[in-house]
Amino acid sequence: MSNQEQTAEGITTRFICTANHGFAPYAQEELRRMFGTVKSTMLVSGEVFLATLSAPQGEVTELLYQTPPIFLRHLFPIHFEVGMDDQDHAYDQLFRFLLNHSALQEGTFSLQVRKTERSHYEGTSGAFKQHILQGIELLPAQHVVQDADLIVSVYLTEERLYAGVSCAADNLSDWNGGAVRFQKEEGQISRAKFKLLEAEKTLGIPFSSFHHAVDIGAAPGGWTSFLLERGLKVTAVDPAKMNPVLLKNPNLKYVSKNAGDVKFKENEFDLLVCDMSWSPKLMARLVTDLLYSLRPGGTAVVTVKLMHKKPMALIKEVTQMFEDSRMQIQRAKQLFHNRDEITLYMIKY
Ligand SMILES: C[S@@+](CC[C@H](N)C(=O)[O-])C[C@H]1O[C@@H](n2cnc3c(N)ncnc32)[C@H](O)[C@@H]1O
Repeated sequence: MSNQEQTAEGITTRFICTANHGFAPYAQEELRRMFGTVKSTMLVSGEVFLATLSAPQGEVTELLYQTPPIFLRHLFPIHFEVGMDDQDHAYDQLFRFLLNHSALQEGTFSLQVRKTERSHYEGTSGAFKQHILQGIELLPAQHVVQDADLIVSVYLTEERLYAGVSCAADNLSDWNGGAVRFQKEEGQISRAKFKLLEAEKTLGIPFSSFHHAVDIGAAPGGWTSFLLERGLKVTAVDPAKMNPVLLKNPNLKYVSKNAGDVKFKENEFDLLVCDMSWSPKLMARLVTDLLYSLRPGGTAVVTVKLMHKKPMALIKEVTQMFEDSRMQIQRAKQLFHNRDEITLYMIKY
């Protein structure tokens, strides 16, 4: 079964698309800007939708590589679809589709399953996954948990079962639905640390390669603790209290001040991070005023709060402010661990 359809409007392809909760409309808008009209059906309100795009699958992949979206977190192509009126028959059809799939006759694959709350499979997602793995146990390709050649994605709703076979890189994320999960560590200072961990993994920021970072709006110290763990010297700025455990670290200098009142040496840092819960434009002004302390070639990672009704326009305005201050935007992305915000990854020239 092909996911491409030749219609009067040309070739169309269909995808199951996922964004952070509440941000699906912006992911739809991104697709619209890239591919023109997009037919969408919401599968999970504000989060998961089925999109029909007027382009062949390869073109969609190519364009998403060239202009990585901010809000679209994950997508997979629909190659198989069946109604769930007769469940046994539907599963049978799915197993047959996968067992006969030419790309699954060798190599390795990972199975990623998701189901909506109202789907008729009563067990856990884990049990659902086992159910499918059992049905395709005769498949020559080997099921692996990591670094698979291909991802088999299965999505179950109340009415329908969808599946697709694709490369992880073409799905925008190799995590199921783009949901990047980290284990909480004992004594972890804040969940905010996950944002930098995720930025390291998914944006490929080489945090261990930097020497001296300034962390603006650092308290209670999740980001600071991450940077210290990566072997950096850190100057943490925040009028609020840092976790006392961190203050014993000889590589940490804590400046208990408002970031508007601090003075640094020119080119003192090779990394600047900022996770201030503040109006995005004030944050951008404050950070750009401190950029003299970041050496050329240095990296900045900042979160931009989207306290605004029009995130696209806001992001444009804030990125422009940074661009006007000699910052080149490497990526703007809503990470899985970003709530009502996005992460900007920039390099100073
Ligand atoms: C979301 S918290 C940061 C969490 C931190 N990244 C972590 O991992 O623990 C935001 C912090 O920004 C600080 N902040 C807000 N405005 C600030 C300013 N003008 N100067 C310095 N810090 C500020 C707040 O005091 C607060 O501690």
